[in-house]
Amino acid sequence: MQQKLEEIRVAAKAELAAAEDAKAVDDLRVRYLGKKGEITAILKQMGSLSAEERPKMGQLANEVRADIENAIAVAMSEMNAKALKLRLEKEALDVSIPGKTDEVGSLHPLNSTLNKLIDIFKSMGFDVVDGPEIETDYYNFEALNVPQDHPARDMQDTFYLTENMLLRTQTSATQIRTMEKRTPPIRMICPGRVYRSDDVDATHSPVFHQVEGLVVDKGITMCDLKGTLETMAKEIYGSDTKVKFRPSFFPFTEPSVEVDVSCSECGGKGCRVCKGSGWIEILGAGMVHPKVLAGCGIDPEEYSGFAFGIGLDRLTTTRHKISDIRLLFENDLRFLKQF
Ligand code: PHE
Repeated sequence: MQQKLEEIRVAAKAELAAAEDAKAVDDLRVRYLGKKGEITAILKQMGSLSAEERPKMGQLANEVRADIENAIAVAMSEMNAKALKLRLEKEALDVSIPGKTDEVGSLHPLNSTLNKLIDIFKSMGFDVVDGPEIETDYYNFEALNVPQDHPARDMQDTFYLTENMLLRTQTSATQIRTMEKRTPPIRMICPGRVYRSDDVDATHSPVFHQVEGLVVDKGITMCDLKGTLETMAKEIYGSDTKVKFRPSFFPFTEPSVEVDVSCSECGGKGCRVCKGSGWIEILGAGMVHPKVLAGCGIDPEEYSGFAFGIGLDRLTTTRHKISDIRLLFENDLRFLKQF
């Protein structure tokens, strides 16, 4: 029996040394120390020993048992440590890996230029009005002193939807809607999309943007128009920007002007941006025609006003030195990400 106990001790230790995980160690515990285990089986045979041998064998059996218990406890804690180490290795965080940042978008250059314009005009007491892009012939032409068959209709190639409905060719339609609704003093701008049946090229698009402006009050003159536009131009292009009025024609303003600003790129010497002229044309303007005022129920004897229509796309391309208007509409992220 003594030999048998020693064999068990040696075998248990050898098997423990070979065990690969906690489960294997626990299986060994059951096999050697459990109720049906090998040590228990030996202890059951104690009855057949002599009274003299029994305590000696009992002591040895207890010692072997304690020895195996101890070896199992050590193996178990080694297995647990090994498992923990594996888990920590698997779940390890590499804090030196660069983080993932959220990409922050930016405003489209047309929007940032428009926002700047809105700020400038708001600071001068203008409010911002919205108007429909689908207009009637009346608001887009008739009320602006362009009756049917008037040659001025040829100035703007129009997308007609029906005989009377069209895509607005100019934000000037909103002037009329505003004057019909309000009584002077009026000071408003109306930004928005306009449509003309133009072929696409570097400077033309069938959809583009205008910012209409309108001021109506007692005693408004060309000087007010000039001062307002100069303030705007200096804010947009820089404080030494010069503004030039050239006589022009619009059916709804009299007198009418086209307004150029000195080229901010070359300071007026002539360059690629201003096509060598030193000036950049940015808007049409004039004193509101008395017929237009009267048509909206405003007495031209008492009130006068000025109006202007800024080409937002041109303002944006010249401001950012963008060479082709199409870039504004193609939504190429490589382009847009630069702003
Ligand atoms: N509506 C004109 C255009 O589109 C611009 C303009 C607006 C001119 C207001 C005078 C006054 O060409």
